[in-house]
Amino acid sequence: MKLAALFSALALGLAAYAVQAADPVVIKFSHVVAPDTPKGRAADYFKKLAEERGKGQVKVEVYPNSQLYKDREEMEALQIGAVQMLAPSLAKFGPLGVRSFELFDLPYIFPNKETLYRVMDGEIGNKLFGMLDAKGITGLAYWDNGFKQMSANKPLRSLNDFKGLKLRIQSSKVLEAQMKALGANPQVMAFSEVYSALQQGVVDGTENPMSNLYTQKMHEVQKHLTLSDHGYLGYAVIVNKKFWDGLPADLRGMLDQAMQEATVFERKIAQEENDQALAKVRAAGTTQIHVLPFRDRVVWQKAMLPVHKEFEDKIGREFIQAAYRTAADVEKEKAAQSSTPAPKDKPSSMRPSN
Ligand code: LMR
Repeated sequence: MKLAALFSALALGLAAYAVQAADPVVIKFSHVVAPDTPKGRAADYFKKLAEERGKGQVKVEVYPNSQLYKDREEMEALQIGAVQMLAPSLAKFGPLGVRSFELFDLPYIFPNKETLYRVMDGEIGNKLFGMLDAKGITGLAYWDNGFKQMSANKPLRSLNDFKGLKLRIQSSKVLEAQMKALGANPQVMAFSEVYSALQQGVVDGTENPMSNLYTQKMHEVQKHLTLSDHGYLGYAVIVNKKFWDGLPADLRGMLDQAMQEATVFERKIAQEENDQALAKVRAAGTTQIHVLPFRDRVVWQKAMLPVHKEFEDKIGREFIQAAYRTAADVEKEKAAQSSTPAPKDKPSSMRPSN
């Protein structure tokens, strides 16, 4: 009896030891931006939540600033399982063969964040994630980094200003067409290379949300900035599907919950971070900041909107139409809520008139 008790105590002890000693699940989360950006901060927040709640079962290793992989390489690394989690910009899914993500790159497609969130969090966002399955990837969440601004070493006001300029873009065919529509020469380049390319004059300018421009110090090598809000930059947080499906269900559930909370956090800080970055660029005094007036914005829009039609087949007409409808719904609701009717001189949405 005593011996049996001793054995069972020993067995229990060994089992407890085995649980403690079991190697934690390691999630390598690679990204290309600085830690003090909306994406960087949310990645760190996810790590904190996951590790606290995982109680030793999970370890999240965040690698910012292209430390591990550059844009293109990180997608490949995820697919072969060299990293488990990424949050690439929505503009970087084209080379993977899922062109519908380029919906988010269409210039002036989202008149406001409300429209954008409804698109991401609704049927369109779900369908897009569904398309990743075949690539061995699972989509977990959409993160935000706000609208993009144009910068160069010369003022960018009229379309003439763009003529012949070499402008860096992400790897998106829509962005290529957008820059061409403005009269510029687009150059695809990894994010980690942009600062030195601007510094050395390999490219003349680029487009960015403010948080990226500031944290990469691009304002130090860009004399002019036009606040144009002409396009959008957000992220899909993605995981290697085999890895994710292979996790114990309770652990996956905990990580899912942590990701949802990190997403709420990310969306809350995205605008704040971008507003602060703009203030810091202003304070640095290296860059002249120009707010695109409404009359010029209309000219830019007119030049860029044919890109919507041009990409209907590649992106999917139904996605583009659904985004327009969402924008119209949001606008109607806003108009109904406010007692003053929407001003008549402004376009009701960014949709092309044809
Ligand atoms: C870019 O390449 O400009 C962005 O996708 C970087 C990022 O991840 O925000």
